[in-house]
Amino acid sequence: HLSVQERIEKKRKAALTGGGQLRIAAQHKRGKLTARERLELLLDPDSFVEYDMFVEHRCSDFGMEADHNKYPGDSVVTGQGRINGRLVYVFSQDFTVFGGSLSGAHAQKVCKVMDQAMMVGAPVIGLNDSGGARIQEGVESLAGYADIFLRNVMASGVVPQISLIMGPCAGGAVYSPALTDFTFMVKDTSYLFITGPDVVKSVTNEDVTQEELGGAKTHTTVSGVAHRAFENDVDALLNLRDFFNFLPLSNKDPAPVTECHDPRDRPVPGLDTIVPFESTKAYDMLDIIVDEREFFEIMPNYAKNIVVGFARMNGRTVGIVGNQPKVASGCLDVNSSVKGARFVRFCDAFNIPIITFVDVPGFLPGSTEASSDTEPNCAYDVMSSKHLRGDVNYAWPSAEVAVMGAKGAVQIIFRGKENQAEAEAEYVEKFANPFPAAVRGFVDDIIQPSTTRKRLCRDLEVLASKKQTNPWKKHANIPL
Ligand code: COA
Repeated sequence: HLSVQERIEKKRKAALTGGGQLRIAAQHKRGKLTARERLELLLDPDSFVEYDMFVEHRCSDFGMEADHNKYPGDSVVTGQGRINGRLVYVFSQDFTVFGGSLSGAHAQKVCKVMDQAMMVGAPVIGLNDSGGARIQEGVESLAGYADIFLRNVMASGVVPQISLIMGPCAGGAVYSPALTDFTFMVKDTSYLFITGPDVVKSVTNEDVTQEELGGAKTHTTVSGVAHRAFENDVDALLNLRDFFNFLPLSNKDPAPVTECHDPRDRPVPGLDTIVPFESTKAYDMLDIIVDEREFFEIMPNYAKNIVVGFARMNGRTVGIVGNQPKVASGCLDVNSSVKGARFVRFCDAFNIPIITFVDVPGFLPGSTEASSDTEPNCAYDVMSSKHLRGDVNYAWPSAEVAVMGAKGAVQIIFRGKENQAEAEAEYVEKFANPFPAAVRGFVDDIIQPSTTRKRLCRDLEVLASKKQTNPWKKHANIPL
């Protein structure tokens, strides 16, 4: 007979080895780290505080009650730790125990960290590597998923929720990551789908590989389900640490302010010449204004006509939204509108200021873009204009704020008339410049492009104490 102390030690040791050395070796052979190795890389050294190491599944069907089918901690490692000294709650699914599948006990462990994260006000990071519902448990497992979904919904907008897909994420496992704020993937070793290639084949007779159906490339370029993909486990976890540094801990917490070595009043002379005066020529407005040119792009390979991501201005986190004229002339379409809107909603929920670089000819008109407005003037209206509570709006001297391009405009209002060229020149003279907006106060100033960084840093400092309230409502009902 073992003493209690000896039993504790034995269980702890068993928990640390998960599904055993053979399965750990198989995990490594696939190029994947174990659940615990991942947490070690993600969190600051010695900061991990583990919960529920002794929790075991409670299934007694299919021989599951046998001792050799019980693993202390079951198929997920949970707890809290620090990233650059800042608190984060984590769960890391252990593929070596029943393929990381979700038992009732597994779900209960995940719910516990989510509940505490919400109570304390700290983000939740989930490292996903799971064969889905624990098949031996059936409805107990499905109930566990629903318990997690409810918490995903409750936590949304309260604390940041981030999912990193590091292996299979199949069946019931896919919904929770899809409800979180950001979903990242690891190239080649992770995939995310409701049902695998075999079932797809039997239902639709379509031949599709695992990678095509739910690999990182599919989800970062075609479906837009994932926000970024990384080369391997180590690359993904280190990037996640960097990403975490941009985020506030909760909706009641300011984003961290880091020490800034890039002068806030640094002139950016390149900008004075970069934008060609003909507005249809492409330019790249990406990262020259922000601190140290450091830009964490979100969804870089999806709907590339809009660019979104995080950066810092004078050490403060900002969300960047920019039209990318290099792709489809920066026209807004359904995918880019959804990409932009979802990003802006995250920033707003967590009080992250947004800088919008507007250079867009309008919406892309056409029957396939049913949910966007086909009226080009809305591009001005929707891209953070004064009327939508933009706080500070600047125009560069090359800006045009108009209903539409001169050619299109003249063809409509002077249809069939002579002197089209003259009318077009008049339209350009009147509208193809920043004055119509500036004389009405719709832009606050016309600024020299090279001074943009300086101006924005100053404004952001002042606006840091901004307070604004909306009328009471249960919630809004804009189309999702
Ligand atoms: N429930 C219980 N055990 C599971 C499981 C699940 N959902 N998924 C995987 N496992 C177990 C396997 O039995 C195996 O156990 P073992 O180590 O004792 O042999 C172990 O996890 C690894 O699975 P394996 O199939 O050998 O790994 P793989 O890399 O070849 O395939 C999956 C991984 C996820 C593609 C495959 O296991 C699978 O299809 N699982 C079922 C997915 C599913 O339909 N889930 C239910 C829907 S919600």
